[in-house]
Amino acid sequence: METTAELAGALTGTFFAGKLRHFPEIDSTNLQAMREAASGAEHGTVYIADAQSAGRGRGAHTWHSAPGAGLYCSLLLRPHTTLSAPDALWFSLATGLAVASAVKSVTALHADIRWPNDLLLGKRKFCGILTELSASSAHVRHAVIGIGININQAGFPPELQSLATSLRIASGQEWSRTAILAALLRAMQAEFSGLLGADNTQSAHEDILRRLRLQSTWIEGKRVHVDEAGGYTGVTAGLNSLGFLQVQTATGLRTVLSGGVRSLDAEQADAAGH
Ligand code: BTN
Repeated sequence: METTAELAGALTGTFFAGKLRHFPEIDSTNLQAMREAASGAEHGTVYIADAQSAGRGRGAHTWHSAPGAGLYCSLLLRPHTTLSAPDALWFSLATGLAVASAVKSVTALHADIRWPNDLLLGKRKFCGILTELSASSAHVRHAVIGIGININQAGFPPELQSLATSLRIASGQEWSRTAILAALLRAMQAEFSGLLGADNTQSAHEDILRRLRLQSTWIEGKRVHVDEAGGYTGVTAGLNSLGFLQVQTATGLRTVLSGGVRSLDAEQADAAGH
C-alpha cells in the first residue's frame, strides 16, 4: 500500500495522526490490535494489512483477505470511560456510516447498510465490521473495530460468488486503497469525536439513528428472517433508542440482539453471510 505521504496529509489533525501500523501480511489486524493494546498501544492506533492469513469475521466466520485487493484495518479505541456492550453497537453503527460516507466520497457508489453493520452494493456484501471489546477485565477499557472492504477483487471463490462483491465489480474500475482508507479515517474521526465526547453522546446517538434510517433500506418495512432465538420471521419496524433493530412478527414486536438478519424478498434471499 502506497501509504505514507498521501495518508499522513489526510490524517493531519485527526486522532489517528502518526499512529499508523502497516503490515504486508499478518494473521488478523484485530488480533494484532488486541495484542498491542495489552502492551499499552495508544488510543487511535490504526492497524492495516495488505493480506491476512486468519481474517476474523462475525460469529464463527472467517474473512477472505486476498493479498492487495482489499482494505483490512483495525482501529484501537481507548476512551477515558469504561466501555460496555451497548457502546460496541454504537461503534459498529457509526463505523458502518463512516464506511458508506467514505465510499460515496471516493467512488460515488451508494452503499446500503444491513443492520447492524454489513455494507451492501445491491444485494451483495462488500464490507464487514467486527467490533471487539477487551475481555481482560470487568472494566473494559479498549475496543478494536475491524473493517474489511472489498475494493479491487475481480472475483471471489465459488462459495462467495453470490454473496460478495467489490467496489471494482460494482463500478467497473479499480480504486486506490489509500484514498479509501484516508476518506474512511476522516469519516471515523467525525463519527467518533461525537460518540466519545463526554457531553453530547445522546445527540450523537440520535444523529446516528437518523442517518441510518436514511442510508439503509433494512430499517423499515423489509420482510426478514432473523437467525437468533431459534429463528423467526417478520417485517422490520425501526430502531429503538439503543440502536437495536425492531421486527414486527405475528406474535408481537421483537428486538434483534445480535444480527443475522436476512431478506425474505426473492431477489435478496441469498445474502446469507460472508
Ligand atoms: C463480518 O463478518 O462481516 C466482519 C468482517 C470483519 C473483517 C475485518 S478485516 C480487518 C479486521 N481484521 C480481522 O481479522 N477482521 C476484521
